[in-house]
Amino acid sequence: SGFISLLKNGLSKFGAPSGMLELLSQWTGAHEDYPKIPEAKGAIRAIRSEPFFIPLYELYLTYGGIFRLTFGPKSFLIVSDPSIAKHILRDNSKSYSKGILAEILEFVMGKGLIPADGEIWRVRRRAIVPALHQKYVSAMISLFGQATDRLCQKLDEADSNGEDVEMESLFSRLTLDIIGKAVFNYDFDSLTNDTGIVEVLLLVLDSRTVEAVYTVLREAEDRSVQPIPFWEIPIWKDISPKQRKVKASLKLINEILDNLIAICKRMVEEEELQFHEDYINEKDPSILHFLLASGDDVSSKQLRDDLMTMLIAGHETSAAVLTWTFFLLSMEPSVMSKLQNEVDSVLGDRFPTIEDTKKLKYTTRVINESLRLYPQPPVLIRRSLEDDMLGKYPIRRGEDIFISVWNLHRCPKHWEDADKFNPERWPLDGPNPNETNQNFSYLPFGGGPRKCVGDMFASFENVVAVAMLVQRFNFEMALGAPRVEMTTGATIHTTEGLNMRVTRRIKPPIMPELEMPVLNGNSGGLSE
Ligand code: HEM
Repeated sequence: SGFISLLKNGLSKFGAPSGMLELLSQWTGAHEDYPKIPEAKGAIRAIRSEPFFIPLYELYLTYGGIFRLTFGPKSFLIVSDPSIAKHILRDNSKSYSKGILAEILEFVMGKGLIPADGEIWRVRRRAIVPALHQKYVSAMISLFGQATDRLCQKLDEADSNGEDVEMESLFSRLTLDIIGKAVFNYDFDSLTNDTGIVEVLLLVLDSRTVEAVYTVLREAEDRSVQPIPFWEIPIWKDISPKQRKVKASLKLINEILDNLIAICKRMVEEEELQFHEDYINEKDPSILHFLLASGDDVSSKQLRDDLMTMLIAGHETSAAVLTWTFFLLSMEPSVMSKLQNEVDSVLGDRFPTIEDTKKLKYTTRVINESLRLYPQPPVLIRRSLEDDMLGKYPIRRGEDIFISVWNLHRCPKHWEDADKFNPERWPLDGPNPNETNQNFSYLPFGGGPRKCVGDMFASFENVVAVAMLVQRFNFEMALGAPRVEMTTGATIHTTEGLNMRVTRRIKPPIMPELEMPVLNGNSGGLSE
């Protein structure tokens, strides 16, 4: 078998046609003593009725770190083994593409950074990563604070009216407000739009935009869980009212994006530009502004695709992280009170600064642990571009692969009390856990060359939001709220929302002048 492998390698180096190599592999298959990947059978029905990563967990316990799942003519490899995940994502990443994921997302993200592969990806990644430099992320801290403060005002109102709140949709609004501003300087929050020229122009479209974004997102999710791509059926595509709405929504978003790009281009042209590594425009610190100022030479379609990709990537994921963090906190009051103690001692009643975020260590651990239990997305998707070895198993080119981050993060052999929400498992004085220091047993932001570009951004965003919310409010599940269950598309959602009772913890900050007489009690002249 050693000779056959040598022969195959030699032939491929000399450019033998792949068909011939394949024939040779088939012929040698019987001779080479490679083990065969375990095959999970008869699991199809289960897959359709639950969020699909749950039955995949059960199958993982039975079949191990890599197994094959077959649906009629389609088959998938399910990977839950850290060293195989590391091989695919990092060590041999050049041999894998986004596969099905790119096909599903194409209609909304085009060739944006998440679905893109090959040369387009390489060029765009190199252009976009510098835009999220440290100074940019620090500048975003105050944006995170302001946006969370607006959410706090809504919660205050609900508390005053004695109403319960559905937090999942509020988190979705929060992260959309943040990412719109951060990526292309667009205020999705119409309440606080200042009335500059740009805002007036866009205000008209505003209410429709938010809805359009949601329509498109739902569609992307529906598609990602449909076994048959019925949206490609020509006639159906044109008559279905939902499909027409999606098309109209996309058109509207694209128009807005084109508009924002044009406006930003004009701003950049009028600016006395001194571009450098940590360039930032004070009036418009957005990623779009950085890209245009950097002289990024790109078609407006590609730029639009990248902006749309970041809008969706940065919005859905963070909203899901916040949703599940608050769900977990409501189940574990001891963690909540420890968290509130930390926030009180670090922040008092101030807004968080960048220095504070570094001191909010337990808060960070709470989010690390929430990302372990509810990774967003719960699986990563790849397709092999060449034959390869996964552990001891040979695989062919063209295999569709799901790396189950859910399974990696809940492996009972690797994690003590794997299903328990226990932020204490990460020591406060230890390193911030990531895929490198956890050797691919924990990969909340993926790993290798296609790791999330927004990891720092998202970490600060989540720390600021969680800290400010628990600083001001107590959270518990609403009385009679439906059981919180999972459903999935790109990220993990609840089936019926996260209905909570939110009550104010602290009085709004008191003006110092008014505080004095109260402190002096009876002796002050003002108290009577
Ligand atoms: C990629 C998670 C926030 C932009 C990824 C990947 C993961 C991830 C797991 C890797 C996907 C794969 O390998 O297939 C998260 C989580 C977030 C978050 C959990 C929030 C808590 C953000 C934000 C942005 C962003 C805020 C934008 C500012 C991207 C982009 C990619 C990506 C552009 C693709 C990178 C590439 O393929 O080169 N994210 N993300 N993400 N993320 Fe995030």
